[in-house]
Amino acid sequence: MIKISPSILSADFARLGEEIRAVEQAGADAIHVDVMDGHFVPNLTLGPPVIASLAKVATKPLDVHVMIAPVDSYIPDYIKAGAAILTIHAEATHHTDRALHLIREMGAKAGLAINPGTPVLVIEDLLHLTDLLLIMSVNPGFGGQSFIPRALEKIRVVRQMIDARGLQVELQVDGGIKPDNIFEAARAGADFFVAGSAVFSQPDYHKVIAEMKKNGEAGRAARK
Ligand code: DX5
Ligand code: ZN
Repeated sequence: MIKISPSILSADFARLGEEIRAVEQAGADAIHVDVMDGHFVPNLTLGPPVIASLAKVATKPLDVHVMIAPVDSYIPDYIKAGAAILTIHAEATHHTDRALHLIREMGAKAGLAINPGTPVLVIEDLLHLTDLLLIMSVNPGFGGQSFIPRALEKIRVVRQMIDARGLQVELQVDGGIKPDNIFEAARAGADFFVAGSAVFSQPDYHKVIAEMKKNGEAGRAARK
């Protein structure tokens, strides 16, 4: 099944609770929350207190993407605040193995993200410790950027690694996903899509999420 996780980075921050309810009613499968530290990425967003408030409103899993370095000491705070999925960056700790173990031990799903400039090779010895693998298709920091086509090749390689090892890892892609390119990303092997500006720029969230799911399912069916 194709899943859509709207990124609230492009939502109206004065009405976050309402925005979450609206996208959930419109068919969102998770709520993507981008945590930025102004150091690992050139932008600042929100932290655990806001996530704890969002967790009271959300009925779908909070898919928390932390862009913090070094991330290690912050992991417990985000899980306690309500992250159902906690995705850390491979570039943001020297101890990815330990960090992924910690996320699982604390009861969240462990996500691992790699930036556009990071080779897929770094996940080789970590894939079995992850529940979700996130291929960044933009350089993280901002919503509304264009999809970097090279990500498609990385998605193909990771899809092959997951399937060859018989793992149940969700393959997520984040950055520049729109109704008109989700087909290709799904065909390459992704099944979980983050979409910020594509969803929140539209007046009708239901319409755009339904269109993305339809095009994504078609791409998945076209996989070789
Ligand atoms: C980028 C964030 C994304 C962002 C995606 O740093 O990780 O989640 O919100 O926004 P769009 O879908 O507009 O590229
Ligand atoms: Zn994100």
